[in-house]
Amino acid sequence: MSKALVTGGAGFIGSSLVRGLLQRGWQVRVLDDFSSGKRGNLEELLPRLDLVTGSVCDAALCRRAAANCDVIFHLAADVSVPRSMIDPEQTHRTNVDGTYNCLVAAREAGVRRFVFTSSSAVYGDDPAQPKIEAMKLDPISPYGGSKAIGELYATVFSRCFGVSTVCLRYFNVFGPRQDPQSQYAAAIPAFVSRMLRGERPTVYGDGEQSRDFTFVENVVQANLAAADARVDGPLVANIACGTSITVNRIIRVLNELLGTRLDPQYEPPRAGDIKHSWADISLARKVLGYEPTVDFEAGLRQAIGWYRENL
Ligand SMILES: NC(=O)c1ccc[n+]([C@@H]2O[C@H](COP(=O)([O-])OP(=O)(O)OC[C@H]3O[C@@H](n4cnc5c(N)ncnc54)[C@H](O)[C@@H]3O)[C@@H](O)[C@H]2O)c1
Repeated sequence: MSKALVTGGAGFIGSSLVRGLLQRGWQVRVLDDFSSGKRGNLEELLPRLDLVTGSVCDAALCRRAAANCDVIFHLAADVSVPRSMIDPEQTHRTNVDGTYNCLVAAREAGVRRFVFTSSSAVYGDDPAQPKIEAMKLDPISPYGGSKAIGELYATVFSRCFGVSTVCLRYFNVFGPRQDPQSQYAAAIPAFVSRMLRGERPTVYGDGEQSRDFTFVENVVQANLAAADARVDGPLVANIACGTSITVNRIIRVLNELLGTRLDPQYEPPRAGDIKHSWADISLARKVLGYEPTVDFEAGLRQAIGWYRENL
């Protein structure tokens, strides 16, 4: 039976990955400091989990958490672009120092794979679409910068120390357990929670900014594939659906699915926000055998169902 360490396993994506791993018979250890993650995200799984509460900024704790693990899925991060513009030092400590600590721990534990969670934010605002992995990294926020550095460190640990690394650049993930209450809530949970209360959604900018919205189950599949794929040397791959959807379209679809007629309230764009982001996913298809199985609307229906039950 393989054993995984999932850092950030109490978060939105991490807790879905933990479910996916347990369903497939993995032993799972979670390292999380609950700064944005929630115990409730793992509640019914706790008897089957090895939960280590603490920070990836604690190097000794990372080493203890990694011991005897076959694969590390490193998701723990300060995830907010706007917060990184206000407090870049905090983002640096968690995302850069924390990633370095986890790579050192991976090397010491001799894991067979280290899967690093990167982000489309590494591409910045380059107008060229779709994004392909060979493009120059050009982040426009400390968050994007921290993910680019994490990728570089993962690649260097692979080349210099033989830690087998796969970096997955997620594009705008959504689905059950994504927090709508955070001050920095992502677009879809923020829209759904307001619209379910009959309130108009707030849109920063003109709403014509677009993203490659990716349902969380697709990301879980990508991580499982990344754990076992045969790769020669360090790999960096986009994980998305390969489709571009504007924020205005999300609101139109939500109005249809919810049976509402709520127009957005437009506010000025936020610093650090990117105008367009759409992924070429052919590398992940080829090397990881990745295929998104849940499309945008099907994912949105599942997400709405979860918010109806849990808000
Ligand atoms: N949600 C998206 O659209 C998206 C897109 C691209 C990349 N990502 C990346 O996916 C990963 C998971 O993000 P998420 O959306 O699930 O956010 P989340 O905030 O729900 O999850 C982050 C988790 O990391 C934990 N954490 C934060 N700092 C920590 C620390 N110092 N030590 C230990 N644990 C810590 C949090 O408590 C939380 O459980 C992150 O690396 C994020 O950058 C997310």
